Amino acid sequence: MTDTSKSANLRLRKNGRPISALTAYDYPTARLLDEAGVDLLLVGDSLGMVVLGFPDTTHVTMEHMLHHTAAVARAKPKALLLADLPIHSYDAPDQAVANAKLLAAAGADAVKLEGGVHQAGIIRAIVDAGIPVIGHLGMLPQRVVEEGGYRKKGKTPEQADELLRGAQAIVGAGVSAIVLESVVPKTAKLLTDSIPVPTIGIGCGDGNCDGEVAVVTDLIGSFPWFVPPFARPETDVAPLIRQAAGKYVARVSEG
Ligand code: KIV
Repeated sequence: MTDTSKSANLRLRKNGRPISALTAYDYPTARLLDEAGVDLLLVGDSLGMVVLGFPDTTHVTMEHMLHHTAAVARAKPKALLLADLPIHSYDAPDQAVANAKLLAAAGADAVKLEGGVHQAGIIRAIVDAGIPVIGHLGMLPQRVVEEGGYRKKGKTPEQADELLRGAQAIVGAGVSAIVLESVVPKTAKLLTDSIPVPTIGIGCGDGNCDGEVAVVTDLIGSFPWFVPPFARPETDVAPLIRQAAGKYVARVSEG
C-alpha cells in the first residue's frame, strides 16, 4: 500500500522522486499551491521581506509566524506544512520547545530552524517533544546582519567540512530533512550524498539535493523589487496586477 501520510513526503527522495517545496504565507496561495501538487509548503520567515516589507528576516516574531501559519493551515493542505521558528524564538531548549508547540498548535506539521553543531541540543529537545524538525544550513538569513550580506557557502574545503560536521550533528539530533541555502553545487552534492535524510536546496544548482524549495514570490514575480540571482520565475504577475489596477483606476475615475 502506498504511504500517503504527510510524513512520507519527507522520505521521498531517499526513496525516489525529488521533493518539491514552495513557501506560502496565506490561505489562497496555500490552496492554489496545494492544488498544484506541491509536496511541502513552508511558512518561511522570508515572509518578513516578501509580505511584511521588512529589510530582512531578523524582524520576524512568533506572533507573525503564528498568524501566517494558521492562515496556511486553514487551507488544509495535503502537503506537509513546515513553519519557521523565527530569530530568538529558539535560543534555549525550553523556549524552543514551547514555541515549536505553539506553531504545531497553529497547524504546522514540522518546524524549521537555522544552524548546525550548536543547534543539536535545541533540535533534540523539540524532536523529543514529538515535533519533527527540519534543519537549515549554508546561508542563514537570520545571521545576515552579522555576516553583512548574502554569500555563497561551502566554497573552500574547510567550509565544506564545517557544513558536513553541522549536517552530521543535526542528523544525529533527529532532523527529518535539511534545507541547504546558497551552498556551492559541489558541496551541496557532497552533503546530500553523505547524510541519510533528504536535502532540500535553494540556490544550490540543479540535481545536487534531494528536493528543491523556492520562495513563491520569486516563482510568480509578485515581489519584483528584489529577486535573488538563482530565482527561476515561471510567470510574471506584477505587470498583470499593475495593469488590472490601472484599468480599474481608469474605469472608476473616468466615471
Ligand atoms: O524563509 C524562507 O523562505 C526559507 C527558504 C529560503 C528556504 O527559509
